[in-house]
Amino acid sequence: NAIVHHGSQAHAQPGCSRKMMKETAPAAIHLKDYAPPRWRILSVDLCFVLDPEDTRVRSRLTLVRNGQAEAPLQLNGQDLVLHHIRLDDRPLQPGDYHLEGETLTLHDLPERCELSLETGIAPAANTALEGLYVSGGNFCTQCEAEGFRRITWFLDRPDVMAVYTVRIEADKARYPVLLSNGNLTDSGDLPEGRHFAVWHDPFPKPSYLFALVAGDLVCRRDGFTTRTGREVDLRIYVQRHNLDKCDHAMRSLQASMGWDEDTFGREYDLDIYMIVAVDDFNMGAMENKGLNVFNSKYVLARPDTATDDDFVAIESVIAHEYFHNWSGNRVTCRDWFQLSLKEGLTVFRDQEFTADQSLRAVKRIQDVQRLRTLQFPEDAGPMAHPVRPQSYIEINNFYTMTVYEKGAEVVRMIQTLLGREGFRRGLDLYFDRHDGQAVTTDDFVKAMEDANARDLSRFRRWYDQAGTPLLEATGTHDPETATYRLTVRQSCLPTKGQPEKLPLHIPLVMALLDARGREIPLRLEGEDSAVAGERTLELTAPTHVFVFQDVPELPVPSLLRGFSAPVNLRFPYTDAQLAFLMAHDTDDFNRWEAGQQFALKVLQGLIEAVQAGQPLMLDARFAQAFGQVLANGALDAALVAEALTLPGEGYLAEQMAVVDVDAIHQARQFLRQALGAALGDRFRAVYEATAGAQGMDATAMGRRRLCNLCLAYLCASGEAEAVALARTHYGSADNMTDAMGALRALLDCPGEARDQALAHFEARWRDDPLVLDKWFGLQAMDAAPGALDRVRGLMSHPGFSIRNPNRVRAVLGTFAMANPVHFHALDGSGHGLITDSVLELDALNPQIAARLVTSLSRWRRFDEERQGSMRRCLERIVAHPGLSRDVYEVASRSLD
Ligand code: ARG
Ligand code: ZN
Repeated sequence: NAIVHHGSQAHAQPGCSRKMMKETAPAAIHLKDYAPPRWRILSVDLCFVLDPEDTRVRSRLTLVRNGQAEAPLQLNGQDLVLHHIRLDDRPLQPGDYHLEGETLTLHDLPERCELSLETGIAPAANTALEGLYVSGGNFCTQCEAEGFRRITWFLDRPDVMAVYTVRIEADKARYPVLLSNGNLTDSGDLPEGRHFAVWHDPFPKPSYLFALVAGDLVCRRDGFTTRTGREVDLRIYVQRHNLDKCDHAMRSLQASMGWDEDTFGREYDLDIYMIVAVDDFNMGAMENKGLNVFNSKYVLARPDTATDDDFVAIESVIAHEYFHNWSGNRVTCRDWFQLSLKEGLTVFRDQEFTADQSLRAVKRIQDVQRLRTLQFPEDAGPMAHPVRPQSYIEINNFYTMTVYEKGAEVVRMIQTLLGREGFRRGLDLYFDRHDGQAVTTDDFVKAMEDANARDLSRFRRWYDQAGTPLLEATGTHDPETATYRLTVRQSCLPTKGQPEKLPLHIPLVMALLDARGREIPLRLEGEDSAVAGERTLELTAPTHVFVFQDVPELPVPSLLRGFSAPVNLRFPYTDAQLAFLMAHDTDDFNRWEAGQQFALKVLQGLIEAVQAGQPLMLDARFAQAFGQVLANGALDAALVAEALTLPGEGYLAEQMAVVDVDAIHQARQFLRQALGAALGDRFRAVYEATAGAQGMDATAMGRRRLCNLCLAYLCASGEAEAVALARTHYGSADNMTDAMGALRALLDCPGEARDQALAHFEARWRDDPLVLDKWFGLQAMDAAPGALDRVRGLMSHPGFSIRNPNRVRAVLGTFAMANPVHFHALDGSGHGLITDSVLELDALNPQIAARLVTSLSRWRRFDEERQGSMRRCLERIVAHPGLSRDVYEVASRSLD
């Protein structure tokens, strides 16, 4: 049922080519069809004889029947050449087995048997970067979700867990380092300059956690002693020239190991933990047991090559993959519909880790921004799916913001409902109960319920219902009875296949503030005594009315504190109330949120003015509130920087009935310019006060962030003096954060200073691909005229390659996601460029091609002309012969 055709087809099995089936539409797989495996694999012995063109994989599987005697054994395989097959040491002839498409079937097997296979694969021709492939001359693997079937025939599903022993043989000079999961049990030399290594992983694991690495690598070594005294050997493998960029990754790993012990009582379980950085990688990183493989972007950092944001991202991805050792590896997923079981939980855990390393409120603000700008649109478009999807064509398309980030919000809500201690009890029970098993999100919720004697049956709907709920709240105060009535109504728009939405269990954390900004003690109708501070209201019905007693004057409600649920909240605040909350709310997150809502109102007014052809004016009250935040020396710099960042163009687009990319861009640019001009002296003063921060701690990072933000506002005002300041800022930067801050600020100022700085940057960094990506990205997002030619120019830069996912993301991904004015150019040229690239990419790397298609999927949100242009592009994609399942699924779903 596959119509995948791409470059790595060279070695397709003769007679079983998927090409023969190319005209059939790919079939969907449904959660409701789940059935337990009919065979189990107790142990796997693999032997790899490595060669870029023809690698031989010998496997010996110990199989045991797990169902009725008639059940045949059906193994998955893709792009494999079958050389030999033996059953219990008896060679099989073609008539003894059945090989069709991507399935190898054997009938009438004994209850228990051993199957030996020899397969041939071509790693150097593998451009999909799934299975075994070559990156930078080295071998590496990516098996999640279904890449293992590109290595050998197997029961490639997560509920089949086996113990692996892996022997690797290769040329010793070219591939001095040979790695796999678990512990090294043997190694030595072979004739003809070859050598071997044998690795054994004692923990049964699903095939998606298998990994192999072979190459010319060096390692940075350190150690960690676990709380029970186990000495763990820590190694980060990189290419030799990157050895001086591993310190931060190593420290992050050690911090993660300590944190998981302290916070969740989770200890590491092998004697060695390895991380390998590779340059060609589809995603961020992969949690293979004991042998993580990382996109080098999430390992390599030095203050002069990586920004503060890069440092924080590296720390969080290192933590994320490490935390998977428990939430994912020790307890794994029964099937891929349960992906959020490990991803939502592990994102929640890495978010908490980062919050503990820095300022919790800033981390929360950034996570919510990410959710709102990336997940909310997904949940409102044709690709909308529940945290636990009910069907898919290609599972790689479901490594989404919904499964990851909304999934993490769902876990966070459980913690909010149960309290930190209750949540910890639930998590302990989950790990105890299911260690070594492949389970479901239901099992997770059940453990939370059982450990806390709570009923979360209504809460479970969060896993099955797509769409972002809307909370509409209103409040009325009655001075006679000194009561405040808060009415909250929940609703959710229909999504594909879910016309009717049921009410969800939503934790609403709130407080009431008096005129001086103090929290009013809360006592609901029917309660004996008031409780100081905030409380968590639980919404379970379509509408709730909460009547608070002893409220003498009209309060200002502070609702959804800390963003206690992934919802849109509407409350009819006046501008004065928003300015009040911006200055006085005792919840850091909600202070920021009030500023965002105020800015949103102002920007919406400006967008309307642009559309009506009216002059644009700066709202005086907003400018004043904004200026007060800037002048508030009591606030942490990082928090000020977040408060002074206006909602992004994507978020503004989400708020419009018909997206007007030009009006949005003009309105936002105007507001930045007007604020920069009106508050120029203050921006300059804060710039001076924060410039020159040293070190990589959270405080220094916060100061640099604020400093660069001030510079950007100053440059937005267009003053010549500001341009000169940015030029100096660039020239004197001793770290990448300031260098990029200056370039970003200069992006708004066409002219010599800008051109010189960009040229200097390219000359300085053209040989460092990760740094060059920043230069690519900056220009791909440049809203100045001529963007299309610029992007084409970048694609013919010697540092660009369509085969490298990081380069594609930096140029094409950034253009499609962060340059709305030109991507959505009225003549359709932006859409066309992305469409051409999608089709070119699809033949090489369907996963990356499919990601790019999502930029076209929300075509219904635009005016008629743009709708037409985007729709025609999607139709052109769907009609393309030999399309991958990946791209077919996204494009066809977007159209229907
Ligand atoms: N499990 C990995 C992570 O979250 C992601 C790997 C996904 N890879 C893929 N090709 N879909 O860290
Ligand atoms: Zn993950």
